[in-house]
Amino acid sequence: MCGIVGYTGEVQAAPVLLKGLEKLEYRGYDSAGIAVYDGAGIRVAKAKGRLQVLRDLTQDGSLIHGTIGIGHTRWATHGAPSDVNSHPQVSDSGKFAVVHNGIIENYLELKEKLIKKGVTFVSETDTEVVAQLLEYYYKGDILDAMIQVLRRVEGSYALGVLCADAPDQIVAVRKDSPLIVGLGQGENFIASDVPAILNHTRDIYRLNDNEIVVLKKDSVQVFNMDKEPVEKKVTHVEWDISAAEKGGYEHFMAKEIMEQPKAVRDTISPRLRGGRVVFDEISLTPEQIRSFSKIFIVACGSAYHVGVVAKYVLEQTVRIPVEVDVASEFRYRSPILGPDTLVLVISQSGETADTLAALREAKRLGAYTLSIVNVVGSTIANESDDVIYTWAGPEIAVATTKAYSTQLAVVYLLSIYLGDLLGRISLEEYNSYIGELEALPDKITKILEHKDNIQYLASKFFNVRDVFFIGRNLDYAMSLEGSLKLKEISYIHSDAYAAGELKHGTISLIEDGTLVVALATQKRLFEKMASNMKEVKARGAVVLGVTTEDQKQIEKEADYVFYIPDACPMMLPSLAVIPLQLFAYYVSSMKGCDIDKPRNLAKSVTVE
Ligand code: G6P
Repeated sequence: MCGIVGYTGEVQAAPVLLKGLEKLEYRGYDSAGIAVYDGAGIRVAKAKGRLQVLRDLTQDGSLIHGTIGIGHTRWATHGAPSDVNSHPQVSDSGKFAVVHNGIIENYLELKEKLIKKGVTFVSETDTEVVAQLLEYYYKGDILDAMIQVLRRVEGSYALGVLCADAPDQIVAVRKDSPLIVGLGQGENFIASDVPAILNHTRDIYRLNDNEIVVLKKDSVQVFNMDKEPVEKKVTHVEWDISAAEKGGYEHFMAKEIMEQPKAVRDTISPRLRGGRVVFDEISLTPEQIRSFSKIFIVACGSAYHVGVVAKYVLEQTVRIPVEVDVASEFRYRSPILGPDTLVLVISQSGETADTLAALREAKRLGAYTLSIVNVVGSTIANESDDVIYTWAGPEIAVATTKAYSTQLAVVYLLSIYLGDLLGRISLEEYNSYIGELEALPDKITKILEHKDNIQYLASKFFNVRDVFFIGRNLDYAMSLEGSLKLKEISYIHSDAYAAGELKHGTISLIEDGTLVVALATQKRLFEKMASNMKEVKARGAVVLGVTTEDQKQIEKEADYVFYIPDACPMMLPSLAVIPLQLFAYYVSSMKGCDIDKPRNLAKSVTVE
């Protein structure tokens, strides 16, 4: 999704903006631009394509002079990627320059009104409407004009505005799209996400919806829609800079895969005390927990796949019926829930538009909302009744790995916690689960030590056209994630199928040489999986099996095997996912794909 940066201070703004945009590249974009006040007016440079195009155009920013400016990486929604549709968008007279993340839903109606009043539009974007409206309402006070614009626009936005009449300030606001304020010494920033400013400051304000910030180099004021000052609390970001750097790895994805043992340990350890699961951070009472008759899980993408694992795990350990929904479906299907329902919301970024909307819908219907989120202070974290943070640190690669693994870790912790509280698991089971949890990071390390084997397998298959991932029960949930990981970064078509469902459709697609990745980690279902492997092999498939070290009988069925350490069945997904991530990574690398920034994808999807 689009990335925003803004800078005001003592040094030249353009290079700072370009550096900041570079740190937001992971969000996904197709064009980039900056606007800087150069003493005489607002200078804009923007171009379709990678940031390098903009760098070349401005000679790394050196051609544009001035100490205040805004920058943007655009992920096209309204109007194709092009120079003219890139941001900043500028008003008719050139007085206002605007960068925007989100969607102005009523832009056509507003655009028509402005055209009737003689305003000329040059782009197809919804953002240009904001720039033109600002100019239309501007009577000498930018804040007043901004408030009037905000009263007219509908939709989601993070906006950064530069005005030639007040060249010492940037005005910014957000609603349903992320925006933070970075607080420096003699310099201040706005940004879509923390990595963009981490080189300059760790002190930030997180803006709430419709809080408007007026940013000068030595002051930051925040106002509400009635132009009243708002007191903000400074949040100190603990991430160290190296966490948002590649640290010698070729790609962020490789680095993040390797960070998983630590991320999982950091997530589990603070919640284990004296052999017990402790959740100091949640206020949910045992009485409330006992009152739940149903659990809903809502999320998008890989977080949804964690939800599918969670359904199996929670139903088994807590014995409460669980429904899992893709967030964009949940909100429009009139889900049946109320105060007796726990709604679990899973999100790395805490900003995904559909997940946020689902959370709000669940709250409106009276459910208790508990979110599992990675980004501290994000909107979903703030708006949930309770939040459990995953301590994965910043995740930069679009394809999630360590956030996924830490979300799974929280699912296990929560299941054990709830299962125990409701008396659904015995003391013996409880103790064994705790031991298994503590052992997970080392087992993940052990798998990572064998990453060369996966690299070898990737070298055998990186040219295939189709891949099918099959599994049963928790292995089916893993198939979903394995398939998504592969297709999103390598562009190889792949599908995930519940192995028992094969004969009802997908098996007709199997032909000589089709690769089938068979996940067979669940012992009680191994024989069933063996039959499914036989079925596909009989039709010409090449089978790559993934199972635990003790299930050597897989060698009778599979052409290639990758073994993972054994663990209790419900925690095997934490181990099985590692070779799937590595496989996707190596295949993508061998195909020469842009691993960290796959085409058309965004890290944080803040539009519906
Ligand atoms: C995007 C990302 C996925 C992610 C999904 C949900 O599609 O590319 O990796 O799983 O959004 O994001 P969230 O931040 O809510 O976990």
